[in-house]
Amino acid sequence: MMKIIITEKISDNGIQLLQSAKDVQLDLRDGIDRAELLKIIPNYDGIIVRSITKIDEEFYQHASPRLKVVGRAGVGVDNIDTEGATKRGIIVVNTPESNIVSAAELTIGLLLASARNIPRAHNRLLNKVWDRKGLQGSELFGKTVGVIGLGRIGSLVATRLQAFGMRVIAYDPYIADARFEKFNAEKKGTLAELLQEADFITVHTPKTEETFGMIGEEELKLVKKGVRVVNCARGGIINEEALLKALKAGIVASAGIDVLMDEPHPTSPLIDVETCVVTPHIGADTAEAQYKVGLTIAQEVLAALRGEMVPNAVNLPTLHPQEFEAMKHFLSLGEMLGKLYYQLEKEAVERVTITYKGEVAALETTMLTRAVLKGLFEPILKDQVNFVNARLVAENRGVAVTEAKETAAGNYLNLIKVEIASKQDVFTISGTVFGRHELRIVDVCGYELDVTPSPYMLVAQNTDKPGMIGQIGTLLGVSKVNIATMQVSRHHKENKALMFLTVDSVVDKDTLKMIGGVEGIIKVNFIKL
Ligand code: NAD
Ligand code: MLT
Repeated sequence: MMKIIITEKISDNGIQLLQSAKDVQLDLRDGIDRAELLKIIPNYDGIIVRSITKIDEEFYQHASPRLKVVGRAGVGVDNIDTEGATKRGIIVVNTPESNIVSAAELTIGLLLASARNIPRAHNRLLNKVWDRKGLQGSELFGKTVGVIGLGRIGSLVATRLQAFGMRVIAYDPYIADARFEKFNAEKKGTLAELLQEADFITVHTPKTEETFGMIGEEELKLVKKGVRVVNCARGGIINEEALLKALKAGIVASAGIDVLMDEPHPTSPLIDVETCVVTPHIGADTAEAQYKVGLTIAQEVLAALRGEMVPNAVNLPTLHPQEFEAMKHFLSLGEMLGKLYYQLEKEAVERVTITYKGEVAALETTMLTRAVLKGLFEPILKDQVNFVNARLVAENRGVAVTEAKETAAGNYLNLIKVEIASKQDVFTISGTVFGRHELRIVDVCGYELDVTPSPYMLVAQNTDKPGMIGQIGTLLGVSKVNIATMQVSRHHKENKALMFLTVDSVVDKDTLKMIGGVEGIIKVNFIKL
């Protein structure tokens, strides 16, 4: 039974999905305190959090080795140490698309609320005062808005603000010019340029070392007097002390803030500033967003625990569902090719070169490389290696990994060739996917083959002379091992042959020893896939 704990509120549909899964025991511990969580977390396979629970090194030290997945019900993963997860092979999943519309709409809500003093005006009425003094705001129409970070939410905000008649300028050094064009946003090469031109500024970057405090005292010296700002991304991207000062000095005319540096923070001094509208991190709090977030995170955590591929894994390359469909058989092929090495050879690996040829070269090959590496190390590391940590495992073992791509694949439509070099030798193996899903091993160390992989296989290299097949067949027969298929491939120059047999059951050590003892057998190995 897989055990999952949920430490913050998620929607009922997600909870119901997990409760109805027969292989899951679910514990709802909304608001559990840190000490208690650290005490019980060694008993869980999965955890689902929002932005309050801190998943850090101390947490992993308690949670490992049982924990397999951390689900973040939302977008931002700044409360999760993803590197720490990757090191331990823990998969981190989030729901990047589920709440972006809600966050974009709140951004606009905060922009309007602060620019038009809506909460302040309403407060006067709550106190039964009808007074319009000091409530004059400013229109959006004709103004310039500076969007910092033109990603998912930033671009939704940009599009919506254009409908208000605003000119959009944007700063995002990590995206292609085509994206600025797509969203009709004028690209600014530096943050300073944006700050100098904008009448409104809204930030939509993740919180990173680079973006934390990216608008501070110095930057606020560059802005137009009376600029209006919004932060619906992450607390601290706009330095809170600097903002407070600028609001008090009237340099910033108004601010809309949904996120604070240390949350929860109900006593933040920003809340007491009349020109600042503060909300307690409610960007994603709509029925629609929470419905999608809850369901998506439950589905993803479940898939990850069941060993299926997850589309939104933060510490894996992103795969869209169609992409995953197109490559799932290549993932199996890559993993299978990798898995054969340590069952055929015993030399420590120094270098792995994977060449993707033909159709497969056009796919997300970094994921396929992970599959090959997972397969390669699995016979020696078992479940300590997975898609998440496969590259890191290779790196830590000093194995250099390179990928190459070729458009032509010889006689095949697609081919994956894996070259594994040890100090002594270079081992090569190639495979293809026939039709839509038939895997084939087509070459092992220069021996041409056409083998459909099966759970049990026997591989023997021998001197190319008469009687070899008969002797192996007899020995397997004596041991009651049924041969399903057999292929022989020859190296004429070296006078050697490779026999590849698929068999119906395990070949035990004694039988292998007997086969190995047959005159002319160079080596023999039993393979389990
Ligand atoms: P995203 O990854 O789609 O977009 C982020 C963009 O920021 C990217 O285009 C990236 O290139 C850009 N960027 C990164 N570093 C930058 C830098 N130094 N300068 C300029 N641009 C930079 O992310 P998203 O889904 O749009 O989310 C944006 C933010 O909103 C995140 O911080 C997320 O956590 C937050 N968020 C908040 C709420 C809420 O409830 N308030 C809800 C959802 C998301
Ligand atoms: C997010 O990153 O998705 C938001 O901050 C919303 C949330 O945590 O609920």
